[in-house]
Amino acid sequence: MADTTQALISRVSVPPRLLGDPAPSGADLDDIMAAAMSAPDHGALTPWRFITIQGDARAKLGDVFVDALKKRDPDADEAAIEKERNRPMRSPMIVVAVAKIDDTVANVPPVEQSVATGIAAYNMILAAQDKGYGGILLTGKNAQDLNVKAALGLEPTDEIVSFVYLGTPIKQVSDKRRPNASEFMSEWTG
Ligand SMILES: Cc1cc2nc3c(=O)[nH]c(=O)nc-3n(C[C@H](O)[C@H](O)[C@H](O)COP(=O)(O)O)c2cc1C
Repeated sequence: MADTTQALISRVSVPPRLLGDPAPSGADLDDIMAAAMSAPDHGALTPWRFITIQGDARAKLGDVFVDALKKRDPDADEAAIEKERNRPMRSPMIVVAVAKIDDTVANVPPVEQSVATGIAAYNMILAAQDKGYGGILLTGKNAQDLNVKAALGLEPTDEIVSFVYLGTPIKQVSDKRRPNASEFMSEWTG
């Protein structure tokens, strides 16, 4: 089997708590982002934008998540607040993958623009893994929250497709049992 196919089959996400230093940087980060740029992109719209957050800025993002939670739920308890505050601190780097949706393009509906951005984010995960890093795509309520979008300088119509958590695995994630593809396939013969 070709190495690429084997890498795809054995790919696993690395939870943020297992992502330590270093985050990808320099030529490695350049390559990871170049991989994002090769995502299939209907109409060559390049709908994606990527916002990198690392170091002390992660604590500021935690504050943004806390403010957003308090606005969503004024009765949020201290445990929930601390969870949001610590959320970005779990890994050394977060890249916010954003689809800048243009709903005026005739042949490329918004869902395709989000899909293209999601594939770009996934390409980042694959390239990161190839270089010995690890990562995971996460969303949650913050991805839809208008206050989070505003704090990141985004428009309400922008879609946060994923928070891409990146770092170096502090321990190996064990292999996962994957679904049997044949259970999800059928043949249409007309
Ligand atoms: C767009 C997107 C958003 C996701 N958001 C979450 C999330 O918020 N929480 C979560 O536990 N998993 C989320 N996942 C799934 C994880 O990225 C990951 O696939 C999952 O933990 C299973 O690990 P695996 O990729 O090794 O199978 C999301 C996946 C995608 C594609």
